[in-house]
Amino acid sequence: MKKILDLISKEVQAAFAAAGYDAQLGRVTVSNRPDLCEYQCNGAMAGAKKYKKAPLIIAGEVAEQLRGNEMFSQAEAVAPGFLNLKLTDAFLRDYLREMRSAEKFGVEMPAHKETIVIDYGGPNVAKPLHVGHLRSAIIGESVKRILRYMGHHVIGDIHLGDWGLQMGLIITELRERQPDLIYFDEAYTGEYPKDAPFTISELEEIYPTASGKSKEDPDYKGRAMEATFKLQSGVRGYRALWNHIIAVSVADLKKNYEKLHVEFDLWKGESDVHDRIPGMVAYMKDQGYAHESEGALVVDVKEESDTKEIPPCMILKSDGASLYNTTDLATIMERMEQIHPDAMIYVVDKRQELYFEQVFRCARKTKLVRPETKLKFLGFGTMNGEDGTPFKTREGGVMRLETLIGDINRVMYERTGTGDGTEMTPEETRSIAEQVALAAVKYGDLSNQASKDYIFDVEKFSSSEGDTGPYILYTIARIKSILRKYEEQGGSRDKTMLREACSGGEKELMLELAGFQAMITAACEETAPHKICAYMYNLANALNRFYHETKILTEEDEKKKAGWIGLLALTADVLETCIDLLGFSAPERM
Ligand code: ARG
Repeated sequence: MKKILDLISKEVQAAFAAAGYDAQLGRVTVSNRPDLCEYQCNGAMAGAKKYKKAPLIIAGEVAEQLRGNEMFSQAEAVAPGFLNLKLTDAFLRDYLREMRSAEKFGVEMPAHKETIVIDYGGPNVAKPLHVGHLRSAIIGESVKRILRYMGHHVIGDIHLGDWGLQMGLIITELRERQPDLIYFDEAYTGEYPKDAPFTISELEEIYPTASGKSKEDPDYKGRAMEATFKLQSGVRGYRALWNHIIAVSVADLKKNYEKLHVEFDLWKGESDVHDRIPGMVAYMKDQGYAHESEGALVVDVKEESDTKEIPPCMILKSDGASLYNTTDLATIMERMEQIHPDAMIYVVDKRQELYFEQVFRCARKTKLVRPETKLKFLGFGTMNGEDGTPFKTREGGVMRLETLIGDINRVMYERTGTGDGTEMTPEETRSIAEQVALAAVKYGDLSNQASKDYIFDVEKFSSSEGDTGPYILYTIARIKSILRKYEEQGGSRDKTMLREACSGGEKELMLELAGFQAMITAACEETAPHKICAYMYNLANALNRFYHETKILTEEDEKKKAGWIGLLALTADVLETCIDLLGFSAPERM
């Protein structure tokens, strides 16, 4: 089904043509003066010069053409040359009826369904998840769901950081503490134990300790680098230890991501492409793409049109070790071979933008991707605390994700109660509080444009009023409570028939609903979840205004009542679809 704006534009374009003007001038937008009209067209102003005529006269002639048109109850030329439009109630009703019965509310799917890899999450094994990783998970999960909704084939890959110096550091610290572990006996040829010689809490303490020591003690750092090298060159005991580290850490990560309703299709990591690196390096050398520079192997990626300096992309360090770049390039190679994607999207901190610019240029130059393969960097800003600097614990340390989620769960638990006067068990209260807390965190994040920094404000995000997740959930719960009561009265929401609006508030709600198709298409094309938030907020406001001015359940005209119930049901369905695309869900009651 066509977007409502396209249907309206088509009609107005035909009117421009019929009045003797270029049809292209008839493009319509949503009104920026809702007190005057619902839609507007500024084409007469744009055409005034070309036709050497006053815009108001052109607009008047077009309005004349639209007189009696079934789509418009008003098509009026106003100074200095706007065309103000209002829809007939019947046209709007028919549009919403069709939307309600169509699959996915009638959204038109893109003509070409793409295969897209989305690289998000990006946690580092054995390091605790901190708030920086939260944004990648939240934004990436939402973008994945939006693209999927629009029919694309999307594969989410976590791209674990599992291959760098941090692994060498952990192994070194373990050796320091337990030198007699069988893994360090190079003469040992038997099987290694099934269970790891450490727990997740130990592991999380080992890494920061090791990292601290390596900064103070160059000798310790040297040993960690050597351990990294041994691991990467395949020393058995080191590999076995490394496998334990991955297993323990991944089990913990899975638990955390599950709580966030974040799901990956692939749990690949930097280490997975290790064996591809020698072949890739040889290829880059043979084809003359890579050359030596101060002992290192690099690919030049600067271009003539650059306005800032883009340094070469380093493939191997002077000691022959591979880097973050190397694994990213080899990963691109592997994805092209195994998945053949049309596009790869990276949801990473925007401070890595220059890095990805180098990697993307290098991948193109060395033909690891096809010329038409899209490589997109979706960089996000920093989540700040109330003081405007990166979010920390009260003691000033790095904020762990678990702590943050725990804090907001507690706030929500205190606020969750028997909103509708019925009893709630403590378990129900807890589960609802968790659901609302997740909505608060995710909506708080996603309602901002991803690239912007924002302030994580627990009070504001968890408020049930204003542009927040809980407000949206309250609105859904409110509708559901009315629908339940209607069914208790013997009605059925599915048998209701949408009718023409009886009030300004009702029509406003209908107009908001009719904007869904355009909104979701834009959110997908621009990978912009914040557009969904803005849409939901306007929709929820319109719903609540309508609700406050209308006595729905006590209405005596049954047809009228049923029409309203149908409208509420459609609103709830649209809101629930939207929150699912953002990655959270709504409780039946709050
Ligand atoms: N592990 C990295 C970090 O914590 C993020 C990984 C991003 N993805 C990628 N393909 N490089 O900074």
